[in-house]
Amino acid sequence: MIAIVNTDPKWGIGKAGALQVHISQDLQRFKKMTVGKVIIYGSKTMQTYPQGKPLPNRINIILTRNPQPEMAGSYLADSIDNLLEIIEDLKNTYDYQDNDFIVVGGASIYKLLLPFCTECHVTRIDQELPADSFFPNLDSDDEWQLVTQSDWQKDTKNNLQFCYLHYQRINKTN
Ligand SMILES: NC(=O)c1ccc[n+]([C@@H]2O[C@H](COP(=O)([O-])OP(=O)(O)OC[C@H]3O[C@@H](n4cnc5c(N)ncnc54)[C@H](OP(=O)(O)O)[C@@H]3O)[C@@H](O)[C@H]2O)c1
Repeated sequence: MIAIVNTDPKWGIGKAGALQVHISQDLQRFKKMTVGKVIIYGSKTMQTYPQGKPLPNRINIILTRNPQPEMAGSYLADSIDNLLEIIEDLKNTYDYQDNDFIVVGGASIYKLLLPFCTECHVTRIDQELPADSFFPNLDSDDEWQLVTQSDWQKDTKNNLQFCYLHYQRINKTN
């Protein structure tokens, strides 16, 4: 399992149920990285998607204890154990590898599933923005190391810069 997230320098990821900022290059990259794969997210994150519905051209697994009609066509998990069963079934039925299962938010689901993740792709915005949802701080977690950082890119529409960070879980047995 891997995670994809967009954060500000303090690991803020959202405000009032929405993203802090929409960076079109980053949203395109998100699409490229997730189409054809399995995305895993909480019901509140679904509400931030177009028409408040699951994303097309991907298998969607939604964590919820309150199934809603909009979730039709998705897999629904009401616990971690249930999620892990669904993942095993999908691996047995299709040709998915561990890295094809992508955790895409929000805060509660990142926290819940980070222990199962081996990689995190973090889009880092260069400026702190108002936030009430956060991703765990990987820089202060000795189980994680930053392995690559891209050059900074400009987002002129939002007047900010961002870069792509790739973190990997350190294999403590090595
Ligand atoms: N920056 C980014 O990359 C990024 C990405 C995604 C989201 N976000 C932001 O994150 C914020 C939302 O995060 P959030 O924590 O409030 O919501 P969330 O994690 O998206 O969804 C929370 C919901 O997930 C379900 N859930 C949580 N734990 C569960 C469990 N153990 N078993 C079954 N269901 C479980 C519950 O759904 P029910 O209430 O339906 O039972 C819960 O209300 C928003 O601001 C959003 O924009 C940011």
